[in-house]
Amino acid sequence: MEKEGQKVLAINTQLRQANEKTIREAGEIIRQGGLVAFPTETVYGLGANALNGEAVAKIFKAKGRPADNPLIVHIASISQMKHLVQEITPLMERLMHQFWPGPLSIIVKSSEVVPKIVTAGLETVAIRMPNHPVALALIRSAGVPIAAPSANISGRPSGTLAEHVWRDFNGKIDWILDGGASQVGLESTVVDCTTRHPLVLRPGGVTYEELLRIEPNMRLEITSKQQQPRSPGMKYTHYTPEAQVILVEGQTIAEIKDHLTSVIRNQTGKVALMGVKEVISDIHADNKFVAGRWDNLTEFAGNIYKIFRTCDQNGIDKIYVHSVPEKGLGIAIMNRLRKAANRIYKGEV
Ligand code: TXA
Ligand code: MG
Repeated sequence: MEKEGQKVLAINTQLRQANEKTIREAGEIIRQGGLVAFPTETVYGLGANALNGEAVAKIFKAKGRPADNPLIVHIASISQMKHLVQEITPLMERLMHQFWPGPLSIIVKSSEVVPKIVTAGLETVAIRMPNHPVALALIRSAGVPIAAPSANISGRPSGTLAEHVWRDFNGKIDWILDGGASQVGLESTVVDCTTRHPLVLRPGGVTYEELLRIEPNMRLEITSKQQQPRSPGMKYTHYTPEAQVILVEGQTIAEIKDHLTSVIRNQTGKVALMGVKEVISDIHADNKFVAGRWDNLTEFAGNIYKIFRTCDQNGIDKIYVHSVPEKGLGIAIMNRLRKAANRIYKGEV
């Protein structure tokens, strides 16, 4: 990975346990235009002062992120939001009231205060108030909103532990605040509030069903391969470990077990199987990761990226994973698994 022969210029990255003192110091680094990775309840973020274009440019460089993929701006209070946006509509108010702080990013018309590099030149900006004490304290301590994508090299699984962030960014960023494991484990739900009917551009930690309860007109964007997604980030390869990912789909536990058993048989190389207990417990695999339960997908969602990264560290060649019902968190889980998959198996020969 280190092809740039610039090791002499590497930054001396500090990995610190989050506490009052380190959060204060990290806030100072953000204010001075540096990069700090920090925990949120969804995944770790790679943060810079959202009002400083030069600082934000460093995020794109460190991640290797395409310049046309805008960032989410993180805030700690509604008053901080007011000067970033052109208006706050009644719908936005209802969403903020119900889901903030929490895993929901709201896309709104941006004010001229937000540098164009943050929004990748769009007229809109994504804003989120994270539900994590360290993230909120950091934003308050910095005294500015913090632009932050997920803390991973572009295309790789998002980091859900400080250790993941360290592996991707040691030598490339100033600080990493360790606040333990991210609880949700998948990124926030992104909702566009600038369209006639609000639209979910990326399913995530807040479920579609929860959103419908607040706004019955909410739509869910289902993009076919031909369509241009409205959330620029959704068109890129994402969340992929180095191992090949084979996604095995089916409608019922029995059907999935059937498909898995036949597709995993006679595999060569170092193979891993991940999934819920009900599906994988009696299928043989040398490396098995029981990641949750069929009827409660919270644990599964929280474990996906962690298992992908563990597999890479252990030199796994192929990861077999199975589908889950597309409701609740299952919508976000299937979105990420399909993007990560090199191959999708639905029972064909
Ligand atoms: O949970 C999360 O959302 C994490 C934590 C750190 O907050 N952040 C995160 O950021 O996942 P990132 O950059 O990995 O994903 C942001 C997504 C991308 O798909 C991006 O294209 C989309 O949000 N996005 C950001 N601003 C947008 C805008 N103005 N219009 C449409 N999509 C936007
Ligand atoms: Mg990301």
